[in-house]
Amino acid sequence: MIGIFDSGIGGLTVVKEVLKHLPEYQMVYFGDTARTPYGNKSKSTIIKYAIQDTKFLLDKGAKIIIVACNSASAVAAEELKRQFEGVPIFEVITPAVNKAVAVTKNKRLGVIGTRATTSSNVYQDKIKQHQNGYTIISKACPLFVPLAEEGWTDKPVTKMVAKKYLYHLKLQNIDTLILGCTHYPLLKEIIQIKMGKQVTLVDPAEEVAQEIKKYLAKNKEIEKKLAKNSNHEFYFSDIAPHLTELAHKWLGQIITPIQFNL
Ligand code: DGL
Repeated sequence: MIGIFDSGIGGLTVVKEVLKHLPEYQMVYFGDTARTPYGNKSKSTIIKYAIQDTKFLLDKGAKIIIVACNSASAVAAEELKRQFEGVPIFEVITPAVNKAVAVTKNKRLGVIGTRATTSSNVYQDKIKQHQNGYTIISKACPLFVPLAEEGWTDKPVTKMVAKKYLYHLKLQNIDTLILGCTHYPLLKEIIQIKMGKQVTLVDPAEEVAQEIKKYLAKNKEIEKKLAKNSNHEFYFSDIAPHLTELAHKWLGQIITPIQFNL
C-alpha cells in the first residue's frame, strides 16, 4: 500500500493527485483531524505527531510513505528518514522545488505556506542547493486553511484575504509561486487572479505524485511490494460531522472514514 498522512483533511489534495497518477495502487490515508492544525505547532510537537502517523501507516501495511502535510514535510521529514531507515519516505517540498527551479525564468520565486513551513526556511534552503542566484520571498497565509475548509473558494472575504497576503509578493516581480500547503490548491483560482497570469503556480501534490511514479518505475523491488487494488482505506483521528461531505467535495468521490485514535 501507499501510505499518505496529513494533519487533517488537507492531504486529500495529495490523495487526489496520487489516485490520478498512480491509479493502480492501493492507498491508506491517515488524517490527524483530532490534532489539526500542525502548521502553528512547535517543531518538536510536529515531529512527535509525524512519527506516530508514520508508525500507524506502516502498521497498516504501507510500503512507502508520503508526507502530504507541508508543515510536517518542512520540519519532520529528515527525522522520519532517520527513524524509519529503509522505508521510502517522500515529502512534498523537494519535488515542488525541482519544478519551481525548472520553470522560473527570472529566478525570483515565492513560497506561501503555514507559519511552521515558512519559518522553517526549508524551501529556501532546498532552492539554494540547486545553485545560487535565486531570490525567494515567502509568506505565511494561515487564514487560507480555514477558508478552504469552509469551502469559501470564491467568496469576497477570501479575495480580500488573498489580496492582503499576496500584495507584497506581487510587488516582488516573482514569476513562480509554490503553493506550500495542502489546502492552497483549492484556492488556486483566486491566487492566480491575484498574482496575475504571468506567475506560474506550482502544486506540490501534483509534483510528488509524479516523482513517485518515476521512483516506482525505477525501483521494481518496491513496486512489486505494493498491493494493486482500489480498496483504499481512510483513517482519521476525529470524524467531525462535515468530514465526509468535505472529503467528497475535495476528492470527487465518496469515502468511508474510519475512526482511529493515536
Ligand atoms: N496540512 C497543513 C500543511 O500542509 C495545513 C494545515 C495545518 O496547519 O495542519 O502545512
